[in-house]
Amino acid sequence: MSLLERFDTLDPEVIRNPYPYFAEMREKAPLFWIERLQAHAVSRYEDATYILKNPALFSSVDIRIAGKLPKDRSSLELGSVSNLLSSDPPIHTRLRGLVSRAFVPKRISEMEPRVRELSKGLVAEMTAQGEFDLMDGLGTPLPVTIIAEMLGVEPSRRRDFKLWSDSLIEAGSEIIRDGKASEKNIRLGQEMLAYMTEIAEKRRREPRSDLISMLVQGGEGAEPLTPKEVNSFAILLLAAGNETTTNLIGNSLVSLIRNPEAYEWLRRDPSIAACAAVCEETLRYDSPVLGLTRRTTQEVELSGGKVPADSTLVVLVASANHDARKFPNPERFDPQRDTTGLLSFGHGIHFCLGAPLSRLEAPVALQELTARAPRLGFAQRQPERIDYGMSFFLRGPRSLWLRKN
Ligand code: HEM
Repeated sequence: MSLLERFDTLDPEVIRNPYPYFAEMREKAPLFWIERLQAHAVSRYEDATYILKNPALFSSVDIRIAGKLPKDRSSLELGSVSNLLSSDPPIHTRLRGLVSRAFVPKRISEMEPRVRELSKGLVAEMTAQGEFDLMDGLGTPLPVTIIAEMLGVEPSRRRDFKLWSDSLIEAGSEIIRDGKASEKNIRLGQEMLAYMTEIAEKRRREPRSDLISMLVQGGEGAEPLTPKEVNSFAILLLAAGNETTTNLIGNSLVSLIRNPEAYEWLRRDPSIAACAAVCEETLRYDSPVLGLTRRTTQEVELSGGKVPADSTLVVLVASANHDARKFPNPERFDPQRDTTGLLSFGHGIHFCLGAPLSRLEAPVALQELTARAPRLGFAQRQPERIDYGMSFFLRGPRSLWLRKN
């Protein structure tokens, strides 16, 4: 029986290792109908880039997943406010213009000393124990603390911030599985909204040097965001920026431990450039984001056939990154390869705004970890089958028990 006959986005086997399924899609069914999501999966590099480059044909607005529109899927009542991710030009162009100032490379590179200090502290504390959970000790707290500091969240609310971030992701999976978010996650979402509204109000009255102040104030020729837009953006940063970077840190360690040659290469030269190369290859080889969604605005032709207007596409960027037509010998993890063109941060107008931040955080974290614990292996308590949670769209270990060798 073909692997694809039993493909299901909720199957633990698929979630644990979707790559053999993707390989079969690329070869035999480049346009593959996913029943559970009521969507066509697109798996080849050429189709993926074509779709992401053409927002007029492939919209980010009102995408149905499992037949449901975002307003039916949302556990948070934001009215009709669009965020960056779920808007098309011209709304997207305006919003992106307003918020992109906060993420320009210069501003991000100025954060290096803080990212390093935080990573150093977390690594020291974590590796003081013989065995430790990398996700709990470093992968999770690093990005969530940095984004909380950027936004200007009070330190006392940092734990809540992480809770809210997790509940957003969990609610997304619940909606696909059960048709609605759980009471708990709806309550956490409402709690977060109330808190963010309060912060935005405070910063409007008494601005500081944080991101929320910048957004509510406008300035440098930019108009201020409305309170709902600020909320919506803060939520997007939480959802888009935390788990993804956490996953990247986790996936890079899994890749290194399973590929001793690459790990040895890094140990011989643990420079920041080498750490960055490992992170780039991890992005390609084991992408933190598996798929992006789009809606066709008219009938289109892709490899594998025609797709009617108003259909949902799942652009499998993780599969595109393994397309041998673009990346030769794609199943080999090789930090020295050319990864130009990888699609893990998307492509085109929605290209990840936080990419420079993750490209700062993950290599610094890896460098600090390698300096203190250069030879890590899986701890005995780490099950051979890593737990990847239940989300098909985001991929990274829930916990990763390591020990110093
Ligand atoms: C957009 C991946 C980290 C903020 C995206 C997109 C991808 C992505 C694939 C495009 C979505 C689409 O086209 O539909 C990742 C990965 C990350 C990461 C793999 C880490 C390894 C971050 C961080 C932040 C962030 C740290 C912010 C702090 C955003 C925002 C967008 C976005 C705001 C929307 C941009 C737009 O629509 O114009 N990200 N992301 N991301 N990401 Fe990231």
